[in-house]
Amino acid sequence: MSQAVTHVRGTSKVLGIIGNPVKHSISPIIHNTIANYLKHDLVYVAFRLEGEKLKIGLDGAHALGIDGMSVTVPHKKAVIPFLTSLDEGAAQIGAVNAIKKTDDGYCGYNTDIMGLEKTFDNESVSIEDKSIVIFGAGGAARAAGLLAAKKNAGRIVIANRSEDNAKNLIDHILRYYNANISYAPLSNIIDESGKAGYIDLVIQTTSVGMHPNTDNSIVEDDVFFQNVDVAFDSVYTPWKTLFLSIAERNSSKIINGFDMLIYQAVAAYEIWNDIYIAKDDAINIKNAVKKYFLKEEDT
Ligand code: ATR
Repeated sequence: MSQAVTHVRGTSKVLGIIGNPVKHSISPIIHNTIANYLKHDLVYVAFRLEGEKLKIGLDGAHALGIDGMSVTVPHKKAVIPFLTSLDEGAAQIGAVNAIKKTDDGYCGYNTDIMGLEKTFDNESVSIEDKSIVIFGAGGAARAAGLLAAKKNAGRIVIANRSEDNAKNLIDHILRYYNANISYAPLSNIIDESGKAGYIDLVIQTTSVGMHPNTDNSIVEDDVFFQNVDVAFDSVYTPWKTLFLSIAERNSSKIINGFDMLIYQAVAAYEIWNDIYIAKDDAINIKNAVKKYFLKEEDT
């Protein structure tokens, strides 16, 4: 986007993202869109920060009065020892994606769970007492599993290629919540989920189906989706993955990962600025960023 920045003044609050690389991050677009939408005197920029400079980078940012930053790869875990406090959700996930300035340093947050929660709330998808299948056992699955357990899902099934990784995730969730949670091998997912009866929500967290491997889906059988009410895929390139296409042709409601991308950013923006962004505003912000994103995808 070649567009002159016209709103930055001496009074402007500065927020940003630290990571390496950060050049292609969409976070500056999202946060500056939020600031413009809310008419805030605020600018959000990308800082490439090397791992060995993490501490000095944080000290410098604090000295410069930078109120908050997103944290991305490779710093999401590495940053934790340099923080002065950690929010409960970040402690549960064991990774940080946003930090907020305090008097003596930065407090770490993880807004992935909040982003996923807003995604489902805004689509009127409820979790309490529902039957949920989660594909994958990585970081995104951890956020999904913790959210489902926190919101008292009736049954959670972790469907994953590696049984060990799935069991580790299950143990992790059970450390915090008393959940009805079990493992299902991918090869047997139809039988396993069939035993569970109707599936209210499927949360796909693996990278399977992501561009350029768009012909792949973690599950390709229509029979699986015939039992599914809502299908969420954390992937959003392509906009509609094969996973979501199969779900849609079997009449499931579909949601892609763009919502989670936007709403985890909205949650961070709320934390940095001590505000609440109403649902309608969040949806308007999402649509503004979506317009930009889809235009960029075309070019
Ligand atoms: P993230 O932190 O974004 O969730 P991750 O930690 O790399 O990403 O997790 C990737 C998850 O996707 C893992 O659960 C992985 O399965 P394994 O635990 O068996 O490794 C799953 N995954 C990735 N590629 C996959 C593939 N081709 N088929 C099946 N599962 C896959």
